[in-house]
Amino acid sequence: MEVFRRKNDLKAFLADKKNIGFVPTMGALHEGHLSLIKRCASENEICVVSVFVNPTQFNDKNDLKNYPRTEEADLALLRANGCDAAFLPSVEEMYPEEDTRVFDFGEIGNVMEGPRRPGHFNGVSQVVSRLFDIVAPQKAYFGEKDFQQIAIIRSMVKQLNYDIEIVSCPIVREQSGLAKSSRNTLLTDGEKEKAVLISKTLFESVNFAKSKSVADVKQWVVDTINAEPILDVEYFEIVDGYTLQSIENWSDADYVVGCITVYCGVRPVRLIDNITYKKQE
Ligand code: PAJ
Repeated sequence: MEVFRRKNDLKAFLADKKNIGFVPTMGALHEGHLSLIKRCASENEICVVSVFVNPTQFNDKNDLKNYPRTEEADLALLRANGCDAAFLPSVEEMYPEEDTRVFDFGEIGNVMEGPRRPGHFNGVSQVVSRLFDIVAPQKAYFGEKDFQQIAIIRSMVKQLNYDIEIVSCPIVREQSGLAKSSRNTLLTDGEKEKAVLISKTLFESVNFAKSKSVADVKQWVVDTINAEPILDVEYFEIVDGYTLQSIENWSDADYVVGCITVYCGVRPVRLIDNITYKKQE
């Protein structure tokens, strides 16, 4: 595996390569990231992984400061999981000048994470488009854990006319059900145990959904999770998986997903998860 910190060095390495797959990450790698990396390595001649904690997507300075950084461990995991080229640029390397581009994602940007993390998806699109320009992959891999992020990336790809296939990959969970996240390392053991209620409730709600209305399922999920004192649901929306707009009836969409964000513990740590109720291919 080659390690690059300069975009021009990575570009030179990739210049004669065909069939490039790309996985953008912010590091603190875990099995969730590794599932994307393994799939990328198996489907492409060259697997490129970036590790870059992108400041423009953090609307909370403390979140940026506290974001886990584990470069040595990340490089070891990348080596062991099929990565051919690791890209670890500095902030100056990625943003020699400020990126002032403002994206408009329409209705998919105005719901859930959009209004609650102003500027977040704009920053994600800024960095991912810059990375796409450097790596020029044929395929790029994203996790369904960040469900709305995939829709945003697809919109950005369309707007900027990239010829890149966006591959979405299923959520990887701990044995307990808790969705794997770099932020889980910020939880105490006790908090982590309590946070399992989030996925447990989402799984149980799939059964509940067979006989209850959308509104009843929503209420039940929120109440069940909030019954645990250290958990605080920020939102739970049941949406059309393509448009991300809330639905009122189960029959309103062919693809139905429940998306949740929960604050956990005293710090608190912001956890996200989602569950598919229905998907008709
Ligand atoms: P990061 O949170 O590091 O995640 C990198 C990729 O791993 C994302 O596509 C994310 O959805 C995926 N991922 C994280 N946890 C996962 C899990 N438990 N199961 C499956 N996939 C999982 O998302 C970002 O970084 C950034 O916003 C980025 C796209 C790199 C832009 O800075």
